[in-house]
Order: sequence, then structure tokens, then C-alpha cells
Amino acid sequence: MGMKIAVSGKGGVGKTTLVASLAKVFHDGGQQVIAIDADPDANLASALGFPNASDVVPVREMKKLINERTGSTPETYGKFFKLNPTVSDLPEKLAMEHNGIKLITLGAVTKGGGGCACPENVFLKTLLTHLILQREEVILADMEAGIEHLGRATVQAVDALIVVLEPGMRSIQTLYQVEKLAKDIGMKSIFAVLNKVANERQREVITKELKGISFLGSISYNEGVAESDLMGESVFNSNELLISEAKEIISNLKEELS
Ligand SMILES: Nc1ncnc2c1ncn2[C@@H]1O[C@H](COP(=O)(O)OP(=O)(O)OP(=O)(O)O)[C@@H](O)[C@H]1O
Ligand SMILES: [Mg+2]
Repeated sequence: MGMKIAVSGKGGVGKTTLVASLAKVFHDGGQQVIAIDADPDANLASALGFPNASDVVPVREMKKLINERTGSTPETYGKFFKLNPTVSDLPEKLAMEHNGIKLITLGAVTKGGGGCACPENVFLKTLLTHLILQREEVILADMEAGIEHLGRATVQAVDALIVVLEPGMRSIQTLYQVEKLAKDIGMKSIFAVLNKVANERQREVITKELKGISFLGSISYNEGVAESDLMGESVFNSNELLISEAKEIISNLKEELS
């Protein structure tokens, strides 16, 4: 069974950059990878270098599919629909692939409050849960700061919730918030990664604030990351530093979990 990793953190800290880099390293290590974009502002496709990334339609917007699977109709919307739609055939149908890495763009998994039981939310959560519980591949989920999408059902199967930090106390506050949400659903495997590090002092200051949350490593501030974005290439394109730092993070994670 491939590892199941969810990545969270404050807006703009580098979640998508980390997920794309981890996907690359797992793939280069011979593992099958499905990257999942569960951020409302989906841009993992472009970080992975998918051509036509801007044309990707998030699953959330596939109304016909969602209606078919949940039995929801415009007339009964929100009143009658299946809480256990069939999704097991969908990873094959929905995944796009580029350079051997698969991607499923979900879009916002919970909208209108985490508890809103509308067909879209139920459908996307069922699909995400299926990917985490049933698939053999390494699953890497790019999420927002909320982790409501990870229902209690997935807690046992998620090997790691990685919270990305940047050198700033606001990202630490988000870490504590995510940690609290994670504890509420019973998730224990929370780790931190520090991104955009420009010097050793930043690392020292931030790692002191972790209060028992295991630190998996850092990613340097890296001009190449912005350059790839500018050129519309994958974030790890000819970026050996980024790849070696992602490798280190994975190796530390494996050690922590062993
Ligand atoms: N190590 C780095 N060095 C330099 N710039 C970086 C680094 N990591 C990320 N960035 C830049 O910071 C911005 C945010 O990165 P990214 O999109 O990965 O963050 P995010 O947490 O996914 O953001 P969002 O919350 O909007 O989804 C991007 O412009 C990216 O190019
Ligand atoms: Mg992102």
C-alpha cells in the first residue's frame, strides 16, 4: 500500500509546491502516484507541469456525474440523494496523467460549511475517502487550511498530515488550528515542513515553536520555483535543490513512521 499523505497550511505557504515535489520524488522512486487537488483554488495541475492546466474541470463542477451517482435531481436537490454513491470506477475515469504522475482535481471538497450535506460535498468526500482507503497508489492530497474533508473514516488510513510553514508566526497559528482540528477527528500523525527558508536563523526560530510536532525538514527559498511558474513548467523542472529537499523530507517521514 502506498503512503497516504495530506498537505495543509496557511494560504500561500507552499502546499502545492510541496505536493508536486513529493509526487515527483515518489514517482522517480518507482511508486505509482495519484496527486489530488482538493483546494478550491486548484492549481496543482500547473505545478505538476500539465499542459492545458487551466482547462482542467474540477470534479465538483461535473454536475451530470454527481447527479447520476447521487440520484440527485434539480427538483429534489438537497432533499433526497444517496449518501453512499458508487465511486470505485472513478479514479481510472477521472485521473489525468502527465509524465507518469496521475492527478485528480476535485475542487472545493466542502462548501457552505463543512457540515453542509449537499450532494456535491457527499460525493467528493466519498471519492476522497475511497482514494485514501482503497487505492494502492501513493496518495498526496493538496488541501486548504481546513481539513474537514478528512472525515473520521480516513483517520486510520492517513499516514501523515503535513502542515507547511513559512518563516512567519502566522503560519504557526494555522499549524495550531490545524492540529486542533486534526485532534478533534482523532488524527495523530501531524508533521511540519518549513518552506521558503532563507537562513538558519529562520529555521531556528520556527522550529522552536513546534511544541512536539515532528519536523520533517525544510525547503529553501528558491528562485527556480517562481521561474518555473513564470515559464509554465512543473515546479520541480530542473530544480535539483528542491528535489533533494523533498527527498530528505520523505526519508525523514519514513523514519518517523517506522
Ligand atoms: N521555496 C520557495 N521559494 C520561492 N518561492 C516559493 C517557494 N515555495 C513557494 N513559492 C511561491 O509562493 C507562492 C505560493 O506557493 P504555493 O502555490 O505552492 O502555495 P500554496 O500554499 O499552495 O498556496 P495556496 O494557499 O494559494 O494554494 C507561489 O508563487 C510560489 O511560486
Ligand atoms: Mg495551493
